[in-house]
Amino acid sequence: MNLDAYGLGGDAFNQADYRLYTDPEIARQEQDRIFEGPAWCFVGLEVELPKAGDYKTSWVGALPVILVRGQDGELRAMVNRCTHKGSTIVFDGEGCAERFVCPYHNWYYDLEGNLTAVAFGNGIKGQGGMPAAFDKRAHGLRRLRVATIAGLVFVSAAEQGPELEDYLGTRIAHHIRRTLGRGLVVLGQYTQVMHNNWKLYMENTRDSYHASLLHVFFTTFRLNRLDMAGGMAVGENGWNTLSYTQGTQKFNDEAYADARALNTDIKLQDPSLVANWPEFEDGIVSSITSVFPSLIMQQISNSLAVRQLVPKGPDKCELVWTLLGTVEDTPAQTGMRVKQSNLVGPAGLVSMEDGIIGNFVQRSIASARGERTVMRMGGDGVVSQESRVTEAGVRAFWKAYRAHMEPA
Ligand code: FES
Ligand SMILES: [Fe+2]
Repeated sequence: MNLDAYGLGGDAFNQADYRLYTDPEIARQEQDRIFEGPAWCFVGLEVELPKAGDYKTSWVGALPVILVRGQDGELRAMVNRCTHKGSTIVFDGEGCAERFVCPYHNWYYDLEGNLTAVAFGNGIKGQGGMPAAFDKRAHGLRRLRVATIAGLVFVSAAEQGPELEDYLGTRIAHHIRRTLGRGLVVLGQYTQVMHNNWKLYMENTRDSYHASLLHVFFTTFRLNRLDMAGGMAVGENGWNTLSYTQGTQKFNDEAYADARALNTDIKLQDPSLVANWPEFEDGIVSSITSVFPSLIMQQISNSLAVRQLVPKGPDKCELVWTLLGTVEDTPAQTGMRVKQSNLVGPAGLVSMEDGIIGNFVQRSIASARGERTVMRMGGDGVVSQESRVTEAGVRAFWKAYRAHMEPA
């Protein structure tokens, strides 16, 4: 498709036509070219499937998938759609199984997705049944490529495409390993439906300059300010991003002293909400990693999480949050992570605004005709910057978008 007409020609990626967020035909093409194209989509964590037979269901855009650990210990992914009449096969979310049985007419599949048996395949008393020429081998479930990094599981629906490591880029891959490569523990999980196009949320996660403006909890207590050291790193291929803050994040009493200096008498009744410890040697106290198209990895102080974004049509999407700790954590550290998790999620003190701001946009642009966004903060380039007052990360999203929607 030709994206010039949508403002995405050239190398600047500094504007986008509002139809990109509202047009059902664009959404359909995104499914073909991005989610079922060569992109790598995050679908879950290895720790969710520790033993043979463990499975969970997930989504790659609109494509339903089963992720399963086989008897040989390998992780496999296949489409959760019966080859008989298309029913959802696994409908209970997660569990452990020796095989999958479609609820509709009981076609049986093994953990590799092979069709192994068909109920009444031989008919009854010599009557009915499948023809002798029916070849079960031709009716297995569609398999997807699987790759992992630091316990995160990605799938790619295209038969050909880049390796995951190359797709991420070394800086992003390093940061994922640095943050999560320690043996993970799931502390909690929840989902959130947002009434906006999926791309508005992905842009939000790469827009480092809204944080101190939109999120009043941060500014009220001066917890994270744009004048702190930090920046926006863009991975080698210009698609994936890491927004980070360094230095002393005032998640402590000092912050409240500052808040009082600002002539506000607002003070947390219980400052243990933001009790924390310096976890990473690189001094990065907050980082949001955004991998095209649909993964966000979060470190906000000691709150670690991955978020999987699932589009649900042009104007709706679902965000699946998984809060994480590590096997090395002391009970006190686990307690701090859990308490800090009040900062994030649909009702999180610093992230609840992100759940509605996309809809503030969506409801206003429904009637837009020919108008385009402006993404020029920090110049027009798609390069790393030692500043968070930039939209370089958002431009990187659109660079990846065009590379998939309109391959060279
Ligand atoms: S739809 Fe699955 S067995 Fe018929
Ligand atoms: Fe935000």
